[in-house]
Amino acid sequence: TKNMQMRNPAEKKPHAVLIPFPYQGHINPLFGLAKLLHLRGFHITFVHTEYNYKRLLNSRALKALHVLPDFHFETIPDGLPLTHDAANVSQDIVSLGKSVRENFLLPFRELLVKLNDSAIAGLIPPVTCLISDFGLTFTTQAAQELELPILLFSPSSATCFVSIMNLRALSDKGLIPLKDESYLTNGYLDTKVDWIPDNMLKASAIVINTSDELESEALKALSSMLPSVYPIGPFPSFLNQSPQSHLESSGSNLWKEDTECLEWLKSKENNSVVYVNFGSITIMTPEQLLEFAWGLANSKRPFLWIIRPDLVIGGSIILSSEFSNIVSDRGLIASWCPQEQVLNHPSIGGFLTHCGWNSTIESVCAGVPMLCWPFFADQPTNCKSICSEWGIGIEIDADVKRKEVEKNVNELMLGEKGKEMRQKVMQLKKKVEEETRSGGLSYMNLDKVISEVLLKKT
Ligand code: UDX
Repeated sequence: TKNMQMRNPAEKKPHAVLIPFPYQGHINPLFGLAKLLHLRGFHITFVHTEYNYKRLLNSRALKALHVLPDFHFETIPDGLPLTHDAANVSQDIVSLGKSVRENFLLPFRELLVKLNDSAIAGLIPPVTCLISDFGLTFTTQAAQELELPILLFSPSSATCFVSIMNLRALSDKGLIPLKDESYLTNGYLDTKVDWIPDNMLKASAIVINTSDELESEALKALSSMLPSVYPIGPFPSFLNQSPQSHLESSGSNLWKEDTECLEWLKSKENNSVVYVNFGSITIMTPEQLLEFAWGLANSKRPFLWIIRPDLVIGGSIILSSEFSNIVSDRGLIASWCPQEQVLNHPSIGGFLTHCGWNSTIESVCAGVPMLCWPFFADQPTNCKSICSEWGIGIEIDADVKRKEVEKNVNELMLGEKGKEMRQKVMQLKKKVEEETRSGGLSYMNLDKVISEVLLKKT
């Protein structure tokens, strides 16, 4: 146990064990849910892979959470050979995904037995519920064996969830699997999720990091497909309003955060900086990176650009000294940042994003309009919601060109359309704030899930 302490055995809190799919975009939102439940009086065990835990040890918020009572971390091996130092290296997400399906049940079971032993010894309250990423199937099996309620959590949108639920029908019609590689986007085939619908039926309830205001249509469709689906987000809005400042930041970063960029932002005018970040798994060619670089340079707007060490295919590229001169003048490049703090900084006026669902809702909750360059998976769908449904973003063509970047950056930051989008995103931000405030829909859904599922005796 990483930080077990002696407890007063008389004090019996409900005890939730939370386990994310071990990717950054899945860890962050589940960590958000863990914090919300901790605030509501739960004893929390948050499970990481050993590899990720080593990387997280560098994380600012993890250190802070170590001193929080009733919030513990546990680890299980990920079943992959340890080939390199875990400090700063991304794992191959395809191998990791496969290993999750094949190797996680056993160590997870062992962990639950260990927690049970600690509970019998009076060190921690007995485990009362499991909360798992919806992409993990071994957790529903473990819950069945132990007769514990299990909540499945979707870190992506309700719209994406509807698509997953429809995979079976597409398969029956012979539309998937795709016939050949010409059907692929970006070389990725992403239909290995057709087992998810069956797993959903084993859950006590399903929760999604979204809200009715954001996705009412998709949520309606989902509730006709599954018995207990609750939108309980968006978490950034929930957590922004939470009273405990030490719980505010998302802080479960696998990469070391550069916090100097927050200082740099202080020197910039309100709404003047373009923030550029493509999340944790998007990759691009050196040519695409150069188009973005020169588009940003030619736009003449200040920018903060996060270039992850493994963003560019084939390793790092060297930007010319001409570009570096421009950068030193009005741009800053870093390799990872505390994104929510950056988005909420008054200097940020727009977000050039790959449209991961977390980035999307974090931007909405910060009231920042977007330029969208979706890469794969749910990102094109999220882009459609941003640009067509909510009217708070402009899409950049997949075959990115510097002229288009320059034009759209200026439209976003200075143009009429940008102004309109900024007003709209502020309205949306206010609406989701209402939903996550006491009496709001998401707030009430979370209450309901806690009382009717997590605290229910099986
Ligand atoms: C992936 C998928 O791409 C996404 O579409 C899916 O919905 C979730 O899993 P990812 O591509 O990493 O996630 O994007 P995103 O969903 O935006 O998650 C990235 C997270 O990392 C966000 O919470 C963001 O705040 C955080 N982050 C990213 C940082 O804190 N700092 C950074 O520099 C970059």
